[in-house]
Amino acid sequence: MGVFTVRDVSGMRALRLSAPDDGSGFGRLDLVSVPVPVPGPTEVLVRVALCGICGTDADACRFRPDNTSMFGGPISLPVVLGHEASGEVVRTGALVTRVSPGDLVALESVLACGTCDTCLRGRRNQCENVVLTGLTAPGALADYVVVPETACHRLSLLRDSGWSRQDTLLAGALLEPLGCVYNAVFVEGGGIRPGERVTVHGLGPLGLFAGVLCHIGGASQVVGVDPVPSRRELAQHLGFSACLSPAKDHTAPPDTSLLDAEVHVEASGNPAATLPVIERHLRPGARCVVVSRTDLPTRIDTNPWVSHAARLIGARGHCGGIFPSLLNLFAAGRLDPATLVGETLSLEEVPAAMARGATATSAGKTIVRVIEH
Ligand SMILES: NC(=O)c1ccc[n+]([C@@H]2O[C@H](COP(=O)([O-])OP(=O)(O)OC[C@H]3O[C@@H](n4cnc5c(N)ncnc54)[C@H](O)[C@@H]3O)[C@@H](O)[C@H]2O)c1
Ligand SMILES: [Zn+2]
Ligand SMILES: [Zn+2]
Repeated sequence: MGVFTVRDVSGMRALRLSAPDDGSGFGRLDLVSVPVPVPGPTEVLVRVALCGICGTDADACRFRPDNTSMFGGPISLPVVLGHEASGEVVRTGALVTRVSPGDLVALESVLACGTCDTCLRGRRNQCENVVLTGLTAPGALADYVVVPETACHRLSLLRDSGWSRQDTLLAGALLEPLGCVYNAVFVEGGGIRPGERVTVHGLGPLGLFAGVLCHIGGASQVVGVDPVPSRRELAQHLGFSACLSPAKDHTAPPDTSLLDAEVHVEASGNPAATLPVIERHLRPGARCVVVSRTDLPTRIDTNPWVSHAARLIGARGHCGGIFPSLLNLFAAGRLDPATLVGETLSLEEVPAAMARGATATSAGKTIVRVIEH
């Protein structure tokens, strides 16, 4: 039987993105009041505590002249944004067995159908009928969100390890973006071998997290490239061996030999600028993992890839199997959530922050405090 402990069932705040109606190229972000959703039999109602803002959200808010969103994946507008969330379970559907009201949970955002041919081939992350919380289904930049039970990961490991409720929820909200680069580098990219060198192009949250995980994973050096000084400083503080600025014409940073690497991570959203740099710094057997998205074409010079037997690998999101490992890293003290977070915002502050592009320049992950727990 479901348990019903919702405190306010009348209405809730939700940050809704719609296409612009003024030709501005920037979507409308309205904090609207909507009914609290009701979970179906296999679903869970979560009271959102924290929700990260992502490069994906920034892309989703930008529109082309034909008024389509610049996010390169599926999106159904209008939509309540938010896909990097943690919170507390407040109500469960009648068939839910794994989580109960009061549990602190982190939410996976890629919801696979589990029954299409692609899912049955084991590629759930590329599900033909994929539902994306905060992009094609209502997201977690809202007081409450409904998700399938299978999207909920209990955070009891951290609570049982003596973590405060606040730190636990913070770690929980970081699992989704950490999971994207974990999947890209260690699952799709095949991982790194101890002693390999890594160069990360773009030190926004994704590039930063990729470098931190490669450092944990045994890289002998992790070098970062980004034009934003505060992002380079934070990366260096978190264990990057060196951080450089790209040259003004984006052809190459000053000290180029440092960029030679067996693993390159493209997280800049600007591969037209970074790929020529990467191609000059591929080492034999190199892998380049592309996580960033752009709708601008990128030229590839195949020669260095052929000569170095190098691989170019794309990856987005993740769907199962990764949160538990990340939770282990947090519990073991190998990852510290406070060091990965930059600006924190209230729900009301998000539209202005997005409009001024704050999330594209502040160092660390921008986190929205939806409800103080
Ligand atoms: N694949 C996935 O699963 C996934 C998930 C979330 C976001 N994304 C995408 O990944 C990208 C990174 O996300 P983010 O949130 O870190 O974005 P972000 O915009 O915060 O970070 C991008 C960084 O790249 C830097 N940059 C720009 N040009 C550069 C250049 N020539 N060389 C080096 N650095 C340069 C920028 O200064 C910025 O700091 C975005 O394109 C985003 O849409 C992918
Ligand atoms: Zn994200
Ligand atoms: Zn499927």
